[in-house]
Amino acid sequence: MLAIIGGTGLSQIEGFKSAGFKRVATPFSEKRVAVELLQQGSQIIAFLPRHGKNHVIPPHKINYRANIWALHQIGITNIIAINAVGGIHPESGPGSFVLPDQIIDYTYSRAGTFFEESLEFVTHTDFTEPFSHELRTMLDNAFQLANQEAEGSKRLLDKGVYGVMQGPRLETAAEIRRLQQDGCDIVGMTGMPEAALARELKLNYAMLALSVNWAAGIGESEILMSEIEANVKVGMDFVLAVVKKLINQY
Ligand code: HPA
Repeated sequence: MLAIIGGTGLSQIEGFKSAGFKRVATPFSEKRVAVELLQQGSQIIAFLPRHGKNHVIPPHKINYRANIWALHQIGITNIIAINAVGGIHPESGPGSFVLPDQIIDYTYSRAGTFFEESLEFVTHTDFTEPFSHELRTMLDNAFQLANQEAEGSKRLLDKGVYGVMQGPRLETAAEIRRLQQDGCDIVGMTGMPEAALARELKLNYAMLALSVNWAAGIGESEILMSEIEANVKVGMDFVLAVVKKLINQY
């Protein structure tokens, strides 16, 4: 079964029928994780808004382990992550989309592994390719189909390096120059440890990133929340169209 992890602007998926919630107990959280089941025709998908239903959990406070554990627990095998990001690459300006193929993790102090206690042996997980090639191809196809209906108005960068910052503050211009030198094309705050945890549990994971602003120092002015909010609103409507095409291929 497929799960969508929603990011900023995607705390709810419209146009699907809710088939109720699974409230999953995990060893990593006192509270159960509420995963919504959504139905379209005969298809059922799971939906988990990583910032909580009312968008109140900041990136560094998200319980990534509980979320990924809960999805695994209910039989999810494939995860599509939706992430709002800042654009660094010249073709990743606000309103455009990126299907990242690589990650650089700059976060710290986040619980980032399932393999740390009661171990029989130390486990190192291969993470050379952090995203599932198969899911990225499916996302690319779904994007093209949805874009035909949008008369080709949406732009997609079909690969890129996602730099994950700790947040919740945005970056300085110098930090973004450093990320640029490191080879980052987009910057966000939520891709890690989510992607690595999914890999530890052998779940396929891919990300569709929506650029909602130029990263600090790349655009002409400082970053305005009003700009981010406007781009999130328009972009997430298209994300929904892509998700629907993806489910039809599934
Ligand atoms: N930086 C980090 N995370 C983000 C940004 C940004 O500019 N925009 C949206 N998420």
